Amino acid sequence: MAPIKLILDCDPGLDDALALLLAHADEALELVAVTTVGGNVTLENTTRNALELREYLGFDHVPVAAGASVPLLRAAENAEHVHGKEGLGSVRLPAAVNTVESIHAVELIIQTLRDAPGTVHLVATGPLTNIALALKKEPKIIDWVASFVIMGGSFTRGNATPAAEFNIFADPEAAEIVFAAGWEVVMIGLDLTHQAIATEEIAERMRQLGPLGVDLIAPLATFWIDPKTGGQAVHDVCAVAYLTRPELFESKRARVEIETSGTFTAGMTVTDFDSSTPNALVPVTLDAAGFWDYVLGEWHRAASARSVSV
Ligand code: RIB
Ligand code: CA
Repeated sequence: MAPIKLILDCDPGLDDALALLLAHADEALELVAVTTVGGNVTLENTTRNALELREYLGFDHVPVAAGASVPLLRAAENAEHVHGKEGLGSVRLPAAVNTVESIHAVELIIQTLRDAPGTVHLVATGPLTNIALALKKEPKIIDWVASFVIMGGSFTRGNATPAAEFNIFADPEAAEIVFAAGWEVVMIGLDLTHQAIATEEIAERMRQLGPLGVDLIAPLATFWIDPKTGGQAVHDVCAVAYLTRPELFESKRARVEIETSGTFTAGMTVTDFDSSTPNALVPVTLDAAGFWDYVLGEWHRAASARSVSV
């Protein structure tokens, strides 16, 4: 069976880094492009992290292009308190030798989708600024994508504010453009990703994967422990896993509208599961045991391949 091709637009970021690892490790997936956006940390740091992860993990052939450093209209937000100032927590990787593509991330997204219509999935795990800019520059991308999956939003509470999840809160105007574009958005929000918690038991399974587990995977997955859950949600990994293991997710269609004017609610994904005009597919339940068996199995593959090659 032909591999599932994807572009990953991301803001690495602890969980973005783990999502990149899964996209690289699973042979059922083919990472065809990585684009970066300012979000968890500055664009300079998210891009440096993507380049260093590319060489450290061995997907050197995949182009990386830098995108928007700031939101469309608002001042930049960040999540340095969660990811650390550099963006990968306590992890420090060797400096990358190779640099970014000369083209902007938006151009790389458009070109990649235009050159292979209907065959490449677009996955966004950071603020949606690059996606919104791509839609404005080339609206046809809604027809060219095989599917469009985001980690973002929530149909209950937020994490950046009581109302808004960080990726949407960081650029509500971009999210408004994205959800109104006319395609179906697979919205993997906090209600789902809070079922994918790296508890200490899971972290111990990560450390059993060998040097990659000890040196990279477990440190990325345990840097910021949420006192409410006793672990760290690997939010962005869920967005990549959805492409290869959709059976692990139970989803409902909904209409999602983005609040952009609320003083206390800006960035809220107002989710109507009763709408007759749905624009989103919202995974609500995760088979967590199956998720971890899958993800840890693929990470073990990467760890084993790496120990052989080093
Ligand atoms: O709210 C979680 C999301 O915000 C994740 O994508 C995480 O990486 C941060 O970007
Ligand atoms: Ca992210």
